[in-house]
Amino acid sequence: MGQQGALICYEAVRNRLRAHPKTWLITGVAGFIGSNLLEQLLLLDQRVIGLDNFSTGKRSNLDEVQNRVAANQWQGFEFVEGDIRDLATCRQVCNGADVVLHEAALGSVPRSIENPIASNESNVSGFLNMLVAARDAGVHRFVYAASSSTYGDHPGLPKVEDTIGRPLSPYAVTKYVNELYADVFARTYGMELIGLRYFNVFGPRQDPEGAYAAVIPCWIRALVKGETVYINGSGETSRDFCFVENVVQMNILAATSSLPPAVNQVYNTAVNARTSLKELFSMLQSRLLPHYPHLQGCVPVFRDFRKGDVLHSQADIGKAARLLGYAPAYTIDAGLDAALSWYMANL
Ligand SMILES: NC(=O)c1ccc[n+]([C@@H]2O[C@H](COP(=O)([O-])OP(=O)(O)OC[C@H]3O[C@@H](n4cnc5c(N)ncnc54)[C@H](O)[C@@H]3O)[C@@H](O)[C@H]2O)c1
Repeated sequence: MGQQGALICYEAVRNRLRAHPKTWLITGVAGFIGSNLLEQLLLLDQRVIGLDNFSTGKRSNLDEVQNRVAANQWQGFEFVEGDIRDLATCRQVCNGADVVLHEAALGSVPRSIENPIASNESNVSGFLNMLVAARDAGVHRFVYAASSSTYGDHPGLPKVEDTIGRPLSPYAVTKYVNELYADVFARTYGMELIGLRYFNVFGPRQDPEGAYAAVIPCWIRALVKGETVYINGSGETSRDFCFVENVVQMNILAATSSLPPAVNQVYNTAVNARTSLKELFSMLQSRLLPHYPHLQGCVPVFRDFRKGDVLHSQADIGKAARLLGYAPAYTIDAGLDAALSWYMANL
């Protein structure tokens, strides 16, 4: 199936959901990816329960979704402020859910190096609570945010799902443990679980503030504010940057696939393209320059490579294409255009 065919199938999946709405639970709903999932599901007239403890997520992300959907669609959303580290809360929110999209976790490699215990509590103990609660509530499908960090020190490119290396950070350990638990829960309790290994996701509502901000929002903020842009390492470091709408597509396909071999798998979630940090800087600068003349002649400052980071990353997305019918609708260029409009309006 070509790109066009895949996108037609995705449209058919969305039409089926509109005709037969489900009840979804999104954990981490006030975060970047969670709030984008919420927006798309409400636009498809789904019922959504959302859980978040606002540790890194924001109420303003929920307010923005409310402004972007119709009033009757917003009525389909029920928010619970709570923590996945508490099993009773997990049980409460899983009750009545057909599908779980589990996004809640403490992201960021450097954060996990600073405080591995906190990352483990949310990302491993919290994940296990969610699995137990979903199992006991009879949830049909559990899709969870895995990570490209699971490839660790394996040098192969592009990354293929069944070949991984040793984890390079506590964060990577937590995300790999998620996959191990998911595999065991599938085999032991007959659950349907799908892990999505996200690769450097970007887009509207990704937090540009703070020490743990991801590179794209961090640089956009610095460029707009006229602050220094730092490149960790030589600038040759490369990533498969993935616009958030592609991630939404993967979640919806994973949540609805009825193909038995597609279930109880992990999938790369990206574009299969590679952009170096130097290239990324030029792409952002050239797009912002017409709006911010102070960026004329602006150059980044290079500093040491960051501990725990991998040098190069690029996803083979063949498995997701074959088994889920995935075809990323956004290239990095199209995604950056969409993301920049949002940041220019919101920074
Ligand atoms: N953004 C990326 O590039 C990327 C890449 C790989 C994996 N991921 C994974 O995707 C998921 C979503 O990431 P994101 O970029 O949207 O980050 P985010 O920080 O914006 O969202 C995470 C959300 O989870 C919530 N949360 C954290 N701990 C919680 C807890 N104990 N109980 C309840 N809520 C809690 C936060 O408040 C936040 O709203 C995470 O699991 C992350 O590890 C993201």
